Amino acid sequence: MDNTQKKSNFISSVLVLFFFLCFFLSDPALAEDSTFSLIDQVVVQNHNSHGRTLSKLFVFGDSYVDTGNNKIFTVESWKYPYGMTLPGIPTGRYSDGLVFTDFLASYMGMKSPMPYKQWTGLFKWRVRNGMNFAHGGTGVFNTWIKEPNMTTQINTFKKYIADGVYNKRDLARSMAIVALSGNDYTQYVLDGGTDEGFRAFIVKVLNQLEVNLREIGKIGLKKVVMLTLQPLGCLPNKAISLSYEKCDEPLNNETIFHNTLLQQIVQKLNSETTDTLFHVLDLYSAFLSVINKSAGETGSTKFGNPLLKPCCIPASAEVLCGSVDGNGVKQYTLCENPTGNIFWDPVHPTQSGWSAISSALKPSIDKLMLCNQLNIHTQRPSSASVATS
Ligand SMILES: *[C@@H]1O[C@H](CO)[C@@H](O)[C@H](O)[C@H]1NC(C)=O
Ligand SMILES: *[C@@H]1O[C@H](CO)[C@@H](O)[C@H](O)[C@H]1NC(C)=O
Ligand SMILES: *[C@@H]1O[C@H](CO)[C@@H](O)[C@H](O)[C@H]1NC(C)=O
Repeated sequence: MDNTQKKSNFISSVLVLFFFLCFFLSDPALAEDSTFSLIDQVVVQNHNSHGRTLSKLFVFGDSYVDTGNNKIFTVESWKYPYGMTLPGIPTGRYSDGLVFTDFLASYMGMKSPMPYKQWTGLFKWRVRNGMNFAHGGTGVFNTWIKEPNMTTQINTFKKYIADGVYNKRDLARSMAIVALSGNDYTQYVLDGGTDEGFRAFIVKVLNQLEVNLREIGKIGLKKVVMLTLQPLGCLPNKAISLSYEKCDEPLNNETIFHNTLLQQIVQKLNSETTDTLFHVLDLYSAFLSVINKSAGETGSTKFGNPLLKPCCIPASAEVLCGSVDGNGVKQYTLCENPTGNIFWDPVHPTQSGWSAISSALKPSIDKLMLCNQLNIHTQRPSSASVATS
């Protein structure tokens, strides 16, 4: 046997082992139960029957991933027209229907994890595919909204672990997804922060995010996935000054600065730990590719005109989509069909926007779902891969 042959034999035996592990670790207890809610029925469309090692998803962050943790009587996500497309009533999601978490869970072949605020503590099977700890409007620091920041969300997760809801074995098969979509930056502006000081504040936010990610890493999850910051300059609340036709490039530039620091942090965290793998999922590029595709003169223009105009537009800066005055009169305008818009309200995508953005991310998500050996080989020296396999 020559050297290359030896090598390829070694590789194929590694691959056999790899598939065996995938098969062995897949959890038959995850077969879906019959009590679906309407949303679950739509969401679990991608259920893949082949083995998977990641059987639980834990969610941290803000409205881009929150599926209903915020307090019912205080936030717009629990008011009409939120949820108008699916399921037809508000669910606490900041969209006309599904949000990113729902599509991600679907790609992972599972139901969207239950918002922890909606779990009574009974029936552990209801949270066997994970839990969602995200709260719309929050950041790494406290913001205008009286909801738990990321540190508090992580501490809540730790309490459930201390209570025995999840054990070590569960966590070793779990993935965390973390979204930080810019509420800290909105708060910075509300606090009268200057343009000159903005980069220094971005650094501050990312330093705190690093602390938080390291904390999640210590919990012992298999993977921790951080979303890059979406192009803030393309959000309708910014693009409104460009007739909803173009993105604000200087602000996108600041977003790129945030994302560059994020990449560095993730590399640093990966060099520190061996048990948890940190990944970045590039929401920024996914947003831009959807916007570019729709703006392109060639190809099918999927989303309407102007491209960055949201479906639901508040009547003034003092009200929100969903606000009504004392007489019950709507304080916003609503488009006829949200499927024609990328954006739902001044900062959030529609369900169909999320669908397009998520499918742009699907190849990366599929890679995350592969067994870990493959990733480790691309990220770590081989000695580390032996130690962690
Ligand atoms: C998160 O919230 C808690 C409770 O309000 C607060 O004590 C803590 O300082 C906050 N964390 C950060 C990093 O701002
Ligand atoms: C983008 O940021 C870089 C520094 O990171 C700066 O040199 C450049 O002028 C910025 N461009 C715009 C359009 O703001
Ligand atoms: C989108 O278009 C902009 C400007 O035309 C370009 O700079 C950017 O690279 C494109 N991004 C993607 C992800 O296609």
